[in-house]
Amino acid sequence: MSSAVLGVDAHPVEVETDLAGGLPGFTVVGLPDPSIRESRERVAAALKNCGFHFPARRITINLAPAGMRKVGALYDLPIALGILVSSEQLEPFADGKVLVVGELSLDGDLRPVKGVLPMALLARELGLRSVLLPPENADEAAIVDGLEVWPARSLGDAVDLLRSPEKRDPYVPSEGGGNGRRPMPDLSDVRGQEQAKRAVEVAAAGGHNVILIGPPGSGKTMIARRIPSLLPELTREEAIDVTRVYSVAGLLPGRSSLMRYRPFRAPHHSTSNAGLVGGGAFPRPGEVSLAHHGVLFLDELPEFQKNVLELLRQPLEEGSVRIARAAISLSFPAVFMMAAAMNPCPCGYYGEPRCTCTPGEIQRYAARVSGPLLDRIDIHVEMPGVPYRELQRIEAGEGSDVVRERVVRARAVQAERFAGAPGLFTNARMGPKEIRRYCALDADGKALLGKAMEKLGLSARAHDRILRVSRTIADLAGSDPIQTTHLAEAIQYRSLDRPRWREGG
Ligand SMILES: Nc1ncnc2c1ncn2[C@@H]1O[C@H](COP(=O)(O)OP(=O)(O)O)[C@@H](O)[C@H]1O
Ligand SMILES: [Mg+2]
Repeated sequence: MSSAVLGVDAHPVEVETDLAGGLPGFTVVGLPDPSIRESRERVAAALKNCGFHFPARRITINLAPAGMRKVGALYDLPIALGILVSSEQLEPFADGKVLVVGELSLDGDLRPVKGVLPMALLARELGLRSVLLPPENADEAAIVDGLEVWPARSLGDAVDLLRSPEKRDPYVPSEGGGNGRRPMPDLSDVRGQEQAKRAVEVAAAGGHNVILIGPPGSGKTMIARRIPSLLPELTREEAIDVTRVYSVAGLLPGRSSLMRYRPFRAPHHSTSNAGLVGGGAFPRPGEVSLAHHGVLFLDELPEFQKNVLELLRQPLEEGSVRIARAAISLSFPAVFMMAAAMNPCPCGYYGEPRCTCTPGEIQRYAARVSGPLLDRIDIHVEMPGVPYRELQRIEAGEGSDVVRERVVRARAVQAERFAGAPGLFTNARMGPKEIRRYCALDADGKALLGKAMEKLGLSARAHDRILRVSRTIADLAGSDPIQTTHLAEAIQYRSLDRPRWREGG
């Protein structure tokens, strides 16, 4: 038994071998990608170099079910074992069913493959006894309980494991895998910038997307990197979902097991469409999926192409990316919080004497961030440049743990509020109905919002965003009604709606 992975799900693939008389040959049937034909050379050399013989018969390999496309070298090991059994060099294994994957090198060593976590989850679901795989993939498979993990360094090892029960030691995973080795950077590293730190706390609490605007060196990237540490810790289920994506992408670092921390991804603005949202001839997850349950950070937002930003709309709305090709249709998960950063003008020093931008340049720059993507960002915050010497004098503030506790409490309030609404967990995702129901204002609040709308010329969209964010601020304060102070703070987070941005300076 082997497996094929589509999206982040593994499907069973049976590897059948038949030896027949006639002219020696080697045929793989069952929708194999051309890459699988090369298996012949690797399998033949590996068998010989491990002291077995490669039968001079007509060999037919069938990968079933035939309707599903198979790609990659992971079937080398099951093919080699199948040939050994068919040619009576190895007894059929009668002691339960085993899922087998691994690429062979010419000397018979095993090389790691992608997607082992979903395969191990499948093996458990199918009630298989164990997985036989390359040692580099063993920790990943060991995440799944109730499954024996049999790591084999070579084809010879694999044969030994199948022949001799005493070789099957219980597998002990190596210490600290996944991204658990390096701790996440902490918010206490950031000096000053109280307003921005508060803004990311509100964003984390309500699941709001956020943009930081400030001159170079003001700490935008530094703060954005720390957002994952403010979010609730991953549940085991979420950690498995994150690890699945990295497993399929072949990006699990070294010998690694569960991803323990929320991911932070910062794709460069030159990243291709497929790199950002996933795709390619054999679809791979993109940055939005690598940011699943974490943070996608778009630094230098105005540098991104507008069409690339368009692509983010579907994942932002649906929490997944659908990819359709001629023969396949699959999806990758992509539930993430979006953070962005930008300079206030092309040179970065808007409002300071050293700013060298012309009004026209500033206007064109502002125009680049208008439109559909900005529409999805609830919280805008402007950060002042602080001279380094001054920063040193500011005392370290709260650490991520303290802030995260408040975020977790606010999230618990939201979980209770939306208990009856499937798929709705945070204030950021409230629709018009929930906004009417949960964001009622008193007379003072209505007057304040009305005045702000008029003065700032806010749209109906901005109006709803302000209400969602004020709901989160009230939740952080443990207040059921939205008070005027909560609303006033939310109104502050609409920098990019101000005339200077709309009219360019
Ligand atoms: N508020 C701050 N507190 C502590 N260090 C800071 C702060 N702002 C900037 N720095 C220092 O300056 C460096 C550059 O900051 P960065 O976050 O990259 O700025 P930006 O993204 O706004 O250009 C950081 O690595 C950090 O060492
Ligand atoms: Mg930066």
